[in-house]
Amino acid sequence: MMIPDKAPKENVFHSSDGLKKEAHISSFEKYKELYVKSIENPDEFWGDIAKDFFWKTKHTGQFLSYNFDVTKGEIFVKCMEGASTNICYNLLDHNIHEKKLGEKVAFFWEGNDPGDELTVTYRELLQKVCQFANVLKSQGVKKGDRVSIYMPMVVELVVAMLACIRIGAVHSIVFAGFSAESLCERILDSQCTLLITADGFYRGDKLINLKLLADEALQKCRDKGFPVEKCIMLKHLSKEPEEILGSQSPPAKRSCPDLQVPWNPDVDLCWHTLISGASDECEPEWCGSEDPLFILYTSGSTGKPKGVLHTVSGYMLYTATTFKLVFDHQPDDVYWCTADIGWITGHSYITYGPLANGATSVLFEGLPTYPDVSRMWEIVDKYHVTKFYTAPTAIRMLMKHGNEPVHKYKRESLKILGTVGEPINPEAWLWYYNVVGEQRCPIVDTFWQTETGGHVLTPLPAATPMKPGSATFPFFGVVPAILNESGEELEGPNEGYLVFKQPWPGVMRTVYRNHQRFETTYFKKFPGYYVTGDGCRRDKDGYYWITGRIDDMLNVSGHLLSTAEVESALVEHEAVSEAAVVSRPHPVKGESLYCFVTLIDGVSYNRELEGELKKQVREKIGAIATPDHIQNAPGLPKTRSGKIMRRVLRKIACGDKDLGDISTLADSSVVDQLFQNRCCAGV
Ligand code: WTA
Repeated sequence: MMIPDKAPKENVFHSSDGLKKEAHISSFEKYKELYVKSIENPDEFWGDIAKDFFWKTKHTGQFLSYNFDVTKGEIFVKCMEGASTNICYNLLDHNIHEKKLGEKVAFFWEGNDPGDELTVTYRELLQKVCQFANVLKSQGVKKGDRVSIYMPMVVELVVAMLACIRIGAVHSIVFAGFSAESLCERILDSQCTLLITADGFYRGDKLINLKLLADEALQKCRDKGFPVEKCIMLKHLSKEPEEILGSQSPPAKRSCPDLQVPWNPDVDLCWHTLISGASDECEPEWCGSEDPLFILYTSGSTGKPKGVLHTVSGYMLYTATTFKLVFDHQPDDVYWCTADIGWITGHSYITYGPLANGATSVLFEGLPTYPDVSRMWEIVDKYHVTKFYTAPTAIRMLMKHGNEPVHKYKRESLKILGTVGEPINPEAWLWYYNVVGEQRCPIVDTFWQTETGGHVLTPLPAATPMKPGSATFPFFGVVPAILNESGEELEGPNEGYLVFKQPWPGVMRTVYRNHQRFETTYFKKFPGYYVTGDGCRRDKDGYYWITGRIDDMLNVSGHLLSTAEVESALVEHEAVSEAAVVSRPHPVKGESLYCFVTLIDGVSYNRELEGELKKQVREKIGAIATPDHIQNAPGLPKTRSGKIMRRVLRKIACGDKDLGDISTLADSSVVDQLFQNRCCAGV
């Protein structure tokens, strides 16, 4: 069995009795019982959950059908075949009409600057979504069309995504921190016909002129023979007073009416002009269970991002259920996830999961450090946040500033804390537990991926005894295993590759327009299993501990990057002939980028070139990929067949001279040279 019969009693943290009393899953025994049911009788387990949603037509046959084994034919997963529904209808209309939640707050929007705020109820959200859905239709967007969204964290971002879903269009959201080049690449891959963006926004003190980047991306698309005909721009900073009245939302506090917004009348359309006069009624498009829902790009080890495709019914049920049980959602909760909607965490746990449950959430535009490092706790007190979900990197960063900024606020409302995005080190876990939660709040360390749609390994807050740093046990329907290099399943305490043996409703269905890449990336290495790319250890009590990526990916501040994409950005610089990028542990970001570059003959390395190379990576990928260290490497450690030995480079990056076996190196003198020239010697 995947989980032990009994939970351990020693060296674990338990949730409080108070929480257990109200919890949906209140004991380990209950979790175990339901887990067994979810595996042995998925039709009944998920069938019961599906009863809470609206279906235009019911499904026929099995709840899930699939093939997870490449040796037996094409990989596929189908959930609730024959059913039709609309997620937007379930999130809004169904909650308003059947559950009477029209006047309930869907979002408390908190802007970058304190005091910049807006409250949106479910009814108001539905009106805005219907209006914008009608706008999209009037611009010719149809079911199945792809729409790119490149926006800051404003309510209109949620409106844009739900408007797409309402008419059956497929959104492809690109995080607003990505560069013009990255946006262009994603528009081309998904063949989007329309782009939705905003004039600009502030990140702390920094003004980001988003429209400028969007224009640059569209020009690049044009140059590559793919003209995007329409771009809808929301005025977030440059609103005129009459537009504010029209849209009911306030201007950003540090609004910027004279922001220089480039405007191309052949392509550009103004959000506010389009919605004024648009009807606030829009019949939803009924979609089949396996119709595409959205595409979200995630880094791939070849350097080219993969368009992860999720579909309608399975994703809806899975995000709704994980949200409800992992955060133990209760009707009077105020929930806050600090992620950006541009990442999967924001898709699943700001938009889809919470709205499916009729939850009230905080939607935060700003930064945890602006205007000071108390901002998070100020917001927790302001809205009486009960469930709080953030990333280990944010916790480690705040921890560096000590306890005083936390103690400035009461945080009495908090009941459950969560983390996501990377392994959390026990020290940060304990600080989060002791200082932020004052030993009152269980921590749900949720392991999952863009590909998994929702949490796959996670504690349930009132049922699972916690161990700091462990994502504990599988969620319902999920069957993990640990494999060795030869693909054999390891039993008991062990360490190896984390894989899953069967699908759950929320797993991705394909890589957009590249099913072969989907099969190769996730199913080829170990036929019969979905391979996560993460290493994992199971302890004597059966707890799972993620040990980090075991492919050419790294996780910087919870953002997954591939070393190959950074390498290809570097070699595009005319001075660089070869580049090799490795991960180096970092006390706050988790991992950081350490780059080795070999220059072309005759070019010498200096600070100016280093600055140019960093800028090059920022412009190609985005600020999140800016290298921490770049080292001039006249030679790279290679095998006789010319393969770069990254294992050796990782050791050099860390200053660790214990290199292991390097007998396959063609020229071992390069290693000494690289050690001598380390760019952070002594660090
Ligand atoms: C890592 C983010 C340890 C892991 C939702 C995974 C984690 C990758 C955890 C996916 C966790 C995410 N503990 N590692 N709780 N959560 N990861 O696609 O390496 O942006 O494969 O999805 O983040 O990153 P992605």
